[in-house]
Amino acid sequence: MRARVGKSKKTWAEAAISDLLEPGPERIGDRCIHGGEPCPGAAWQGLPYSRQLEEKQKQVAEALERLGSFSGIDLEPIVPAVAEWRYRNKLEYSFGNPGPEDPPGDPVLGFHARGHWDRIVDVDDCLLASEANNGARNLVREWARDEGLNAVDAAGAGELRNLIVREGRRTGQIQTRLVTAAAEIPRPPVDLHTVIEGPSGGTGGPTGVLGEEFLGERLGDLDLRVSPGAFLQTNTETAERLYSVAREFAALAGDERLFDLYCGIGTIGLGMAADAGEVWGIENVSEAIVDAEANAERNGIGNARFRVADARLGIRPLVEEAGRPDVVVIDPPRAGLSAKIVRRVLECEADRIVYVSCNPTTMAPNARQMVDAGYRLTRVRPVDMFPQTPHIECVALLERVSG
Ligand SMILES: C[S@@+](CC[C@H](N)C(=O)[O-])C[C@H]1O[C@@H](n2cnc3c(N)ncnc32)[C@H](O)[C@@H]1O
Repeated sequence: MRARVGKSKKTWAEAAISDLLEPGPERIGDRCIHGGEPCPGAAWQGLPYSRQLEEKQKQVAEALERLGSFSGIDLEPIVPAVAEWRYRNKLEYSFGNPGPEDPPGDPVLGFHARGHWDRIVDVDDCLLASEANNGARNLVREWARDEGLNAVDAAGAGELRNLIVREGRRTGQIQTRLVTAAAEIPRPPVDLHTVIEGPSGGTGGPTGVLGEEFLGERLGDLDLRVSPGAFLQTNTETAERLYSVAREFAALAGDERLFDLYCGIGTIGLGMAADAGEVWGIENVSEAIVDAEANAERNGIGNARFRVADARLGIRPLVEEAGRPDVVVIDPPRAGLSAKIVRRVLECEADRIVYVSCNPTTMAPNARQMVDAGYRLTRVRPVDMFPQTPHIECVALLERVSG
């Protein structure tokens, strides 16, 4: 194998394979292929699933050792995903102008080629998504071609930017959101139409509703609504396994005050509300908080309150309003918590902190800061939410030892 070294520091470097000279004995053939290239979203598909799980278990152990300076942690066995393929409930596709393999003039709709931000690989069937998701994407591409529309190019010409397809796996609902540069296009066959004028990228912007505004999904016993701008775990079926680990670690007896920090649409706190005295959630996306409140109501949950707040600024006012929590659940984005936010969490003096993390390399130093301040890291269990990718989720339990 030849590899090209990218980012490099004193003690580590990142490298990407440039040539595979001889496949390793365990390597299996790629299954998800687009235009002759392996799917950029399934970088680990050449590894049998059992080996992916082993590697992910090791990744979490190494992060705890190297980045958290923990030794002797008895890491619990990784929880595998429910399905190895077709598990994603959301995929974001980009429009591109035709490459050498494509019919001239027709826009393509798929993923950025690995390492080439200016080239889009056309996708016909992505095995990370359901058949229904693939069908919805192909229909929108056909419409774009019939209407003679084009992807926005480097000079700013063209109309089409992105397509986001979300799926309620339990409700069967497919929701499509088209992102374009121009408002003046023929009516698209989608639920939502976002217009981002000018050269800026991204997918957030003023959105017109042409079909269903909310996605309906069920997780465990919860019947949920999800706004277009709100977060939902992308693997519905395995999220239930993740949340049941979090519930087990929270070990609620029935009367605790629970804080659900980074609560999104309330999934974790609402799922634990029946076992707690009261639930308080914080989240900085106001659409998600409106969903969390609506979700509490539609599930008949009366002991949960939600506040729009940045985690850094919102924890102290929440303690003032609600009182000190017994249990805190934290589920931050990949960047984890800043040292200051960890200090705010520590000020809560909760008996237990359940840390749900999509990035063990940021969870490990955060857990170290908590342990140095008087907690014990008593349990860590990885959960594989993203088969065929290097990403790994884990749940950690920190218990307060000092009074
Ligand atoms: C990994 S998601 C978890 C959401 C939820 N717990 C769930 O499982 O669906 C992280 C959430 O944190 C929110 N978030 C990101 N930065 C934040 C901040 N600074 N303060 C509060 N919430 C934030 C995001 O909008 C997102 O909903």
